[in-house]
Amino acid sequence: MIGPRTLIYLTLPFVIGGFSTVGFAGWDEARLEREEAALLTPNPANGKIVYEGCAVCHMPEGWGTPNGAYPQIAGQHHSVTIKQLADIRANNRDNPSMFPFAIPEEIGGAQSLADVAAYIEILKMTTATGKGDGTDLSYGEELYRDNCTECHGEQGEGNPKDAYPLIQGQHYNYLLRQLTWIQNGKRRNANSDMMKIIEGFSEREFKALADYISRMLPSEEKLSPYTWKDRR
Ligand code: HEC
Ligand code: HEC
Repeated sequence: MIGPRTLIYLTLPFVIGGFSTVGFAGWDEARLEREEAALLTPNPANGKIVYEGCAVCHMPEGWGTPNGAYPQIAGQHHSVTIKQLADIRANNRDNPSMFPFAIPEEIGGAQSLADVAAYIEILKMTTATGKGDGTDLSYGEELYRDNCTECHGEQGEGNPKDAYPLIQGQHYNYLLRQLTWIQNGKRRNANSDMMKIIEGFSEREFKALADYISRMLPSEEKLSPYTWKDRR
């Protein structure tokens, strides 16, 4: 008969083997590609061509959709976009609908990441984003000031040097989904210090934060003079 100890010995090599080929390899792959892309000189003109395949979901302006199914990516820091793309490509962040459109076979290697990230960064942002019900904004502001400014900045502008995402004016439903997935571990590439901070947060706290952040205004030079109605 096979006892529990024998079972552990029998399955252990597969568990370890599985981790080293799938888990660890994915993190290394993403880190290497990210480092490589960061060193390349980006070509936003080629980025514009790569972006054609992204516009179906993120919209030609990079504004995503107000229902939060697709995030606004316009104006995001180069370093942040590169990290997210490298993580998605290496399966460190699950995104099954986008995955086939983001793989090297479809858009190319590290140079394409650098290029498309540079193009996305110069796209102007919209403030016509999905918002919450507006009932808990002062609590949202208080939570934000106490817990988030250190990394995401006073106005949610993030920090390009450390690849802290710009989150100001993001769609409410997208923000709520990311906060939930970062807390429950579904978003595997999250920042561990941030995870500790939001560990005990409740649904009320997430809603208040997401509503407040969705209304934070980007700086003048990042804002688009156009609205959805002006779409050419
Ligand atoms: C089929 C639809 C689809 C296509 C095409 C697509 N994306 Fe996405 N993308 C998504 C979805 C959905 C999410 C959000 C997933 C989630 O909720 O975590 C996302 C998330 C992202 C993020 C992370 C945003 C953040 O704030 O962390 C980036 C960056 C991104 N996409 C860039 C791109 C680029 C660049 C392309 C083209 C090469 C592209 N996407 C093509 C659907 C798509
Ligand atoms: C210690 C720094 C740090 C703190 C503090 C922090 N974050 Fe983050 N946050 C990050 C980093 C880094 C990421 C990106 C992680 C990754 O690479 O996927 C992130 C990601 C996010 C995202 C997902 C952004 C996107 O575009 O998908 C949201 C939303 C967010 N943080 C909100 C918050 C809120 C709200 C707070 C305060 C309660 C907070 N964060 C506190 C560092 C931090």
